[in-house]
Amino acid sequence: MTQGALHGIKGCVFDAYGTLFDFNSAVARCRDELGEKSDSLSKIWRDKQLQYTWLRSLMGRHEDFWRITGDALDYAMRSLGIVDAAMRNKLMNLYRTLDVFPEVPAAIERLKSGGLKTAILSNGTPQMLEAAAKATGIDRLLDAILSIEAAGIYKPHPSVYRIALDSLSLEKHAVCFVSSNAWDAHGASVFGMKTVWCNRYGQEREMLPGSPDLEISTLAELAGVQGIKHANDFY
Ligand code: LAC
Repeated sequence: MTQGALHGIKGCVFDAYGTLFDFNSAVARCRDELGEKSDSLSKIWRDKQLQYTWLRSLMGRHEDFWRITGDALDYAMRSLGIVDAAMRNKLMNLYRTLDVFPEVPAAIERLKSGGLKTAILSNGTPQMLEAAAKATGIDRLLDAILSIEAAGIYKPHPSVYRIALDSLSLEKHAVCFVSSNAWDAHGASVFGMKTVWCNRYGQEREMLPGSPDLEISTLAELAGVQGIKHANDFY
């Protein structure tokens, strides 16, 4: 993975959950009430949420991400023996206004002031993404907030990544897709985008087709990457 591979980028497209917004922050805000089950609940919730996107896509039974997030939470709560309808509602409401990772606003601002187009491309519904972006103030830094709902299938289906090209009027090779989900970075890479894997959680490389062009550990590192720090660098 070399920085050189990122020359010529004109747009930076971000995954949302785990990359910009901290999906653990919903459970973290209820830690006093959930106690020692907190970490397990957050992990099972996220794991099931992703599994349901892939499984429903394979089954051809699409439901939007809000419904899937609720289904995954129901599974996670049941599996830990938590029976608490008020807590379920609270966690779902908190999912609309997750914390933004601290370095994110400044990182996107720098890219934008360098002349890059910026966007979110996420499994989230348009309503979920608008709410999260607005609550954290990053909506003003984005040219587009794009949902897979326009394709009716979840990542990493190739038709999802195409949504960003159409919206930003850019070719594949001019777009850098940034995700903390390694499988998502591989999906965008297979599609033909340049990709950055923000390995926030110190995970192992995936054994999947495609290959991230660059691995970083927080979005703050984007500022130092030649080719994407300033859209006009190499023109
Ligand atoms: C998203 C999921 C993959 O935001 O985190 O699309």
